[in-house]
Amino acid sequence: MIDSPTLTTLRLIVRPFTPNDAPAYLELARANHEHLARFEPGNPARSVHTLADAEAVLRQYAADWEAGAIFFFGAWRQEDNALLAQVALMPYNPDLPEVEVGCFVDGRYEGQGYATESLRAVVDYAFRERGAKRVSCRCSDENVRSQRLITRCGFTLEGILRDCNPYVPRADGSPSSEYVYGLLRGEWEESP
Ligand SMILES: CC(C)(COP(=O)(O)OP(=O)(O)OC[C@H]1O[C@@H](n2cnc3c(N)ncnc32)[C@H](O)[C@@H]1OP(=O)(O)O)[C@@H](O)C(=O)NCCC(=O)NCCS
Repeated sequence: MIDSPTLTTLRLIVRPFTPNDAPAYLELARANHEHLARFEPGNPARSVHTLADAEAVLRQYAADWEAGAIFFFGAWRQEDNALLAQVALMPYNPDLPEVEVGCFVDGRYEGQGYATESLRAVVDYAFRERGAKRVSCRCSDENVRSQRLITRCGFTLEGILRDCNPYVPRADGSPSSEYVYGLLRGEWEESP
């Protein structure tokens, strides 16, 4: 692996996955198939049912990291080494550069600030270590928890792509609108 950051926050260690994490990843994936179904139906964790699946996904994450295609992080609680969340950092416009972020927290640990803590750590890494000038994030119009998370992390709602997403339909089955958020380097540096 070219670059293997270990980001330490108040309660978490946020770092790239390694193939050795397969048992923990399997446990996370199994516990969250339903949790991810509504707003992240295509998340790789949803395809994990066995240890071999988990190993294959984590090998792919390592290859993606090395190729600079997409950077997947796991967030581990310091006190008991439990894997609580996954954050993805995706190059979006390498000429700016701009990256996009996305994440989920284990449904059993929602509402405790772990997603905020993990996402903030990765956003900070994107600005400081990856030279990002802009970080963006998207979520569907009915994903209220995600909207709160993104806003809490300092992002600004910049636009709404109306009725564009058939892959994350609304509860009534219609294509959802996509909220597009952005955070600029200067805004991050000035934030408390
Ligand atoms: C979106 C998602 C990551 C948000 O998770 P979350 O648990 O709401 O976010 P956090 O872990 O940051 O927790 C925030 C909540 O914990 C509370 N909290 C408690 N301690 C906290 C702390 N130390 N720091 C921050 N918040 C804290 C906050 O007040 C907030 O409460 P609220 O739910 O009443 O607003 C989660 O719902 C999820 O995994 N959804 C499925 C996947 C998904 O939709 N991903 C996003 C696609 S864009």
